[in-house]
Amino acid sequence: MLNSKSGPVIITSALPYANGEIHLGHISSTYLPADIFRRFLRLNQVEVYYLCASDDFGTPILIETEKKKIEPHEYVKYWHDKDLQDFNLVGINFDSFSQTSSETNRKFVQYVFDILKKNDLIYEKVVVQYYCEKDLKFLPDRYVVGKCPYCDAMGQYSDLCEKCGRIPEKILDPKCAICGLPPVKKESNHYFFKLSNFADVLESWLKENKLLQQDVKKYVLNWIVEGLQDWDVTRDIPWGINIPIEGKAQKDKVFYGWFDNHLCYISSFIDLLGDINKAREKWNNSKIFHFIGKDIVYHHYLFLPAIRIGIKQEYKLPDFIPTRGHLMLQNNKISKSRNWYIGLREFVNIFHPDYLRFYIASICSFSQDDINFDWYDFEKRINNELIANIGNFVNRTLTFIKKNFRNEIPAPTGYDELDKNALIEIERIGRKVGELISSNEVDKALKSILTFSSIFNQYFQRKEPWKNPEQSATTLYVSINAVRSLSILLAPFIPFSAEQIWKQMSLEGNIHEQIWDSIGTILLQPGHKLGQIEPIFKRIDNDKIKEQVDKLNNR
Ligand code: MF3
Ligand code: ZN
Repeated sequence: MLNSKSGPVIITSALPYANGEIHLGHISSTYLPADIFRRFLRLNQVEVYYLCASDDFGTPILIETEKKKIEPHEYVKYWHDKDLQDFNLVGINFDSFSQTSSETNRKFVQYVFDILKKNDLIYEKVVVQYYCEKDLKFLPDRYVVGKCPYCDAMGQYSDLCEKCGRIPEKILDPKCAICGLPPVKKESNHYFFKLSNFADVLESWLKENKLLQQDVKKYVLNWIVEGLQDWDVTRDIPWGINIPIEGKAQKDKVFYGWFDNHLCYISSFIDLLGDINKAREKWNNSKIFHFIGKDIVYHHYLFLPAIRIGIKQEYKLPDFIPTRGHLMLQNNKISKSRNWYIGLREFVNIFHPDYLRFYIASICSFSQDDINFDWYDFEKRINNELIANIGNFVNRTLTFIKKNFRNEIPAPTGYDELDKNALIEIERIGRKVGELISSNEVDKALKSILTFSSIFNQYFQRKEPWKNPEQSATTLYVSINAVRSLSILLAPFIPFSAEQIWKQMSLEGNIHEQIWDSIGTILLQPGHKLGQIEPIFKRIDNDKIKEQVDKLNNR
C-alpha cells in the first residue's frame, strides 16, 4: 500500500476534448476512480498531484468552430472553463487543469519534437492526402469517414475505429465529412514518428511491468506482433501546435492532436509547479498513474511510452495505466450525437452529486468490460444500500445518543462477546478497504464498507439498546466510534456526505485532513458532545426515476 514514505504520486485522467459537456460516461471510466484514489492517498498523507487539462485540438473541434463561425481558441476556452466547473460540482478537483493549447504545452511539444528529430526518430515524407475539391481543404482524420479495414465497421473515422479500437492504416470507401463527396488525392510534406523502431523496447517494457493489467497487456502485445506502423504526426489544418521547421513555424501545418495531448500531462505539471526543472525532477521521483478508458489503449500503452523513450526518458514512463471499459446507459451505448447520454450538470440538478459517486463507484469494476448505468438500479442502490444501510446506521446511532444521553458520548460499562467482535471489525476495516482502493477495486472497496455498515446495523439490532437505554452505553460508545470510522472510509467515495457526518459528530477539522490509519482506532471519548443531527440522505422517489427514464426515452 502506498504511504507517505513511498514518495509522491502523480495521477492523470484522460484529457477531455474541449468540445462538449462532461457526461456520466467520462466520470465512470476515468475521473471518479482517479479521484477516489487521489482522496484516499491524501488521507494516507501521500504527496499526490491530480493533473488534467482540456484537449483543445483535433479535427472535430475545428469542424465545430467552422460550423459555428467562432475562433477555435474562444471555443475551447469556453469548454475548458465549463468542464472544470462541472467536474468540481461532483467533487472531482484537480490540482491542475491546463489546456493543450497553452503556451507551456506549445513550447514543450515543440521541444520534444526537436529532441526526437535529433535522435533520428522523425523523418519527412511526401504523402498523398485526401483533399476535397469542393471545400478546398485537406481532409485529415475526422474530415473523412469510411469503412474500417480491420473489422469492416461502416461510418468510422479515418483516425480511429470506434468499433474495434484500432487505428485504420487506410480507411475504405472514403467520403468528405463536410459535403459527403468522395475526395481526391493531393501531395503534402509530412513528418513521421518511427513507432516501428520501438517494437522490442515496448515489448520488454510491457512484459517487465507487473503492474499493468494482464488482459490489456495481452492484446497490446498482440498489436506489436501484428506490426507497429510509424505515425504521421502532421496535419494540414490551421488549428494546432505549429511544427517548427528550421526554427520557422509553418502555416496550416500542425501537430496531430495525439502527438501533443498526452504531453500535456507533463505540461500541466509544469504549469502547476511553475518551473520546468522542478517539474521534471518531481515527475521522475513520483509514481505515475495514467487513468484511461479502453478506447485509448493504443495511445497510452504504445505511442506515449515510445515518445518518452524517444526523448531518453527525460520524463519517466507510467508505472500504472488503470484502464476501464465504457459506461452504457440503460444498456445502450452512450452517444452524444444520438443524444443518448446524461450530462453531469443535468444530473446534479436532480440528485445529490454523492448519489452519482456512490452509484458509479458501486458498479465500477476494474476491468475492460463495459458497465451499465440503469436508473432503476440507481434507485435501488441509493435507497437500499446508501440510505437503508449506511444512512440508517449513522442516523440511528446519532439520534439514540441525542435522545438518551443528552447528545453526549456515553462511557462504556464493560464489553460482551458482541461488543468485542464489533471492536475487531473497526480495527480491521481500514486496511481491507485500503488494499482494495490501492489495487483500484473501488467497487469491491465500497462493498466492504457496506458490509461493515450492515454488520453494525446487525450489532445494534442484536444489542437492542432501546429496551434498556440506561444500560446501553457500551453499544452506543462502540457504535459512534464505528460511525467515525465509517465517515473516513466513505470520504473518498462520497466526500460531501462524509463531511456532513463528520460535522454532525462535531469533530474537529475537515474530514479530508484525517488520517486513514485512524479508522482502526477508538478515538471518540466519553463526554464528547455531538453536533446538530439530521438525516444525511433523502430517499429517492420512484416517480422521480420514472420521470428520468421517460425523459431519456423521449429524446
Ligand atoms: N481527448 C482524448 C479522448 O477523449 C484523450 C486524451 S488523453 C491524452 O479520447 F493522453 F492524450 F492526454
Ligand atoms: Zn467536401
